[in-house]
Amino acid sequence: MQTQATAIESIDNNGKLGKPLAPWTYKNPELFELEYEAMFLMRWQFVGHVSDVPGIGDYLTCDIGRDNVIVLRGKDKKLRAFMNVCRHRASRILEGTGTCRGVVRCPYHGWTYQFDGSLMAIPQEENFPGLDRSEYGLHKVQLDVFHGMIFVRIKGEGPGVAEQFAHTAQFFEKYGVADYVKCAEPTTQIWDANWKVVWDNYLENYHIPIGHPGLNRLVKESGEWEDLTSGISYGVFLLKDKPSNVEIERRYQEMFRHAERRVPEELKGKWVQFGFSPNLGIDLYPEMVDFFQLIPLSPDQTLIRAWYYGHRDPTPEEVELRRLNILVNDPVNEEDRELCLRVQRGLNTHGYRPGPLSKQETAIFNFHELLRSRVPVINLRRAPRRGSVATTNETLRENRPSV
Ligand code: FES
Ligand SMILES: [Fe+2]
Repeated sequence: MQTQATAIESIDNNGKLGKPLAPWTYKNPELFELEYEAMFLMRWQFVGHVSDVPGIGDYLTCDIGRDNVIVLRGKDKKLRAFMNVCRHRASRILEGTGTCRGVVRCPYHGWTYQFDGSLMAIPQEENFPGLDRSEYGLHKVQLDVFHGMIFVRIKGEGPGVAEQFAHTAQFFEKYGVADYVKCAEPTTQIWDANWKVVWDNYLENYHIPIGHPGLNRLVKESGEWEDLTSGISYGVFLLKDKPSNVEIERRYQEMFRHAERRVPEELKGKWVQFGFSPNLGIDLYPEMVDFFQLIPLSPDQTLIRAWYYGHRDPTPEEVELRRLNILVNDPVNEEDRELCLRVQRGLNTHGYRPGPLSKQETAIFNFHELLRSRVPVINLRRAPRRGSVATTNETLRENRPSV
């Protein structure tokens, strides 16, 4: 039996080129709901770093689709996560980030909760005869901290984050990510594409030479990469020595060596890129880490969120290098957006049949296999009748041979 984090070595078990998902799966509203539950509510979602909530009462909130989660540091200094929904009449309780003074108070009728989520007080409680406060604590959400990165899982169970990263966790240790702090404000964008189009694109580097000329001037693949069945994939890029003819890129190349003092010898001259399916990209640079997270909004709209963390005492060179990094990578992001929109338009047309996936697209194949196993209706070549996607999925799940 495969463990959660077995390495995948071939494209498929028969050595045949894999095929991506059928086009209908990239635009179907009923499937979108099933995916949201299986792939977003039931899998670990990155929501921030422990340094964002350092003190007692500090909190952050994070949207995951239409859900929103609070991460709060309790009086015992432990982090806990809750659904950001009042148990009285469903008001959202906290916004953004901040510090709660003593209690968490709902702004609607003033129900107050302890930092451990238990319901503490209700204004005019005599009007709720017989109410048992112990039944109305905030709904708890699973929380896991992996090298300082906070992940939550709203539903379901399964292995922790460290188990999914398995041996690849060593990279985070080497860069010292556990001690990082936010080094630039997070940004958001909305792309008019299905979330899987965006994630497929993130997972492959085959498009870099054509789709990202600037990136292609800066880096090349090292040949070191791995895909794990847990949904983790990573690849290592080498910074090219040949000076770029574009000034910002050339300055980045020149300054890069200044930021390398902190990384061990084996990581010098490199960028390390992780994909944590279904929706988190992590780029480890010597000067910082960035997170590229996508959150599905609708079958054809996806929220793209970027986060930046780095050493808390950067040298002036590292500060400059971070600035250059963002200037170099922003156009790459824009190129990706345009590529994704092109794909979505193509998937919406009649008559397209999926082409083959190359060896460089193994991570996509792996991601699609994960989807096929979690949402079996996605295996069908044509969409089930309107209104029957969920029931078809259930039937397929029940009839599936157990593994
Ligand atoms: S909805 Fe929160 S106190 Fe009423
Ligand atoms: Fe790209």
